[in-house]
Amino acid sequence: MLPVYLETFGCQMNELDSELVQGQLSALGYRFVARPEDASVILYNTCSVREQAEQKAYSRIGVISARKRAGENLILGVIGCMAERDGLDLFRRHPQVDFMCGPGELDRLPQLIDNVRKSNAAQELEFAQPLALADRTALAGNRSRRSITLSAAEDNLENLDLSRAFDPDSSGGKRHSAYVRITRGCNKFCTYCVVPNTRGAEVHRPPDHIVDECKRLVDAGVIEITLLGQTVNHYRYQHGSAVTIDGREAPQVGPGLSAFRSSAASTGKRTTTFADLLRRIHEEVPALKRLRFITSYPRDFGDDILSVMRDSPRICRYLHAPAQSGSDRILKMMNRGYTVGEYLDFVNRALVMLPDLCLAGDFIVGFPTETDEDFEMTCALVKRLPFKNNFIFKYSPRPGTTAFDRLKDDVPEDVKRFRNNRLLAIQTDVSHATHKEWIGRQVEVLFDEVRTFERAKNAKSNASPITVMGKEIQSSSASSPAQTRLFQCIGRTAGDLIFALECKNEQEAILFVGKTALVEVSAASALLLTGGLSKALVFAE
Ligand code: SAH
Ligand code: SF4
Ligand code: F3S
Repeated sequence: MLPVYLETFGCQMNELDSELVQGQLSALGYRFVARPEDASVILYNTCSVREQAEQKAYSRIGVISARKRAGENLILGVIGCMAERDGLDLFRRHPQVDFMCGPGELDRLPQLIDNVRKSNAAQELEFAQPLALADRTALAGNRSRRSITLSAAEDNLENLDLSRAFDPDSSGGKRHSAYVRITRGCNKFCTYCVVPNTRGAEVHRPPDHIVDECKRLVDAGVIEITLLGQTVNHYRYQHGSAVTIDGREAPQVGPGLSAFRSSAASTGKRTTTFADLLRRIHEEVPALKRLRFITSYPRDFGDDILSVMRDSPRICRYLHAPAQSGSDRILKMMNRGYTVGEYLDFVNRALVMLPDLCLAGDFIVGFPTETDEDFEMTCALVKRLPFKNNFIFKYSPRPGTTAFDRLKDDVPEDVKRFRNNRLLAIQTDVSHATHKEWIGRQVEVLFDEVRTFERAKNAKSNASPITVMGKEIQSSSASSPAQTRLFQCIGRTAGDLIFALECKNEQEAILFVGKTALVEVSAASALLLTGGLSKALVFAE
């Protein structure tokens, strides 16, 4: 029962990977602990998307390395995208790291831990050899891109997803929501992005596996499923093309962008598109209350998908469709494959078909050569559309990407910071306006956590900040001697807007967790809706 501490950085893909790793190791008898001080095995599931993400992991690795140098008997493993990107360089710079495992090789993780354990035990013996590099590294390199037939390793990776044992009690406040992967990897090669290198080629999972996983999750108590893929609308599974020797369907490498052109010749094979997949899940898992998906690529998002969304009440009217820039010149340099005009056409098409749609996205500021004029075009795009929120990032040059190799990172840091702050301020105004549209309306909210805080009597502001999903949604103020305790239950609408319900006491707030209820919105800030239960209907479980 070796105690393991696992910390996750990065995106939802990594969160799901960590859940799978935890399931896999728990089944083998490992026990997970909440603090690194209590663990013998320390795992960091890392992200490489921006330099800052890597710095966080490096500082954690530094702390554990120091403990190891001071004589503590610990096993330190670095898993995820940074392991894949850094490769052996990581061992050179951090010799205390015992093993590395890329995101495409996680099925080999138990073996790696085992190798290190055995080697550590053998160190006591006279003729012990240091562990060979091959026994402490599991990285894909770009092996997966060389062949269109899937390697056995990837098949094993599929088994890792299939063996998922969802424990509704182990996932804290999020136990009613789960992620399901539909596509691994990415083939888009946006010039700034490491993901095609770290996660490998785009591989689509067989639809039957996805639908079965959704069914099993719902049987285990899940209310909301988010389908995961880097570009979900490019999901496309051609039946009969990838089968295992015993006749089962296997994951399949994506067909490439040409399959989405109207001129693409039909292969004559039955195909499950993203629209088909959504329809199947909606129909075949009727007990699932909410189905959502991230991330949508602003190109090749057909009306077939929008029609399925419109006709399927349990598919959330929510689109996370990152635009990245409002300048056509920059979009071209990013290799995004669409223009601002095409982005606007896509979003407007979606808004006409789904008037309740909530729109979110990502933008990068300070991409190489971005001028004030380019940036102004980005600001104009943000002002023009009803984004509920946008994640805004300063461009971070990533080794191994085309932009890193070919474009000078020539926008000074202070200009990046200024643009970042300015765009955030614009987004705050847009978010406020978007949220205000919901005042007076009745919406269904899925509640997932209770918040308690102190509020000074006779004061409107709160003494302690409230944070939801890492974001501060109510800020703190100086504490006052006379304070009252307030209780809220926090949830999200189908469009992913955060809603806070004020409750009389903690017991009442707890009652709502994991349930959906119809509420009436009475007030809105840029990040939060508030209001009371709708008089029409209380629990709509
Ligand atoms: N597949 C998704 C994005 C995945 S990465 C898509 O295509 O939209 C998540 C976000 O990180 C991206 O949308 C982008 O805004 C940001 N990002 C990726 N690489 C970056 C880099 N080098 N510097 C700054 N931000 C970056
Ligand atoms: Fe990265 Fe582009 Fe792929 Fe998104 S679509 S993961 S930004 S390469
Ligand atoms: Fe980071 Fe890898 Fe996700 S680089 S954003 S953890 S796919």
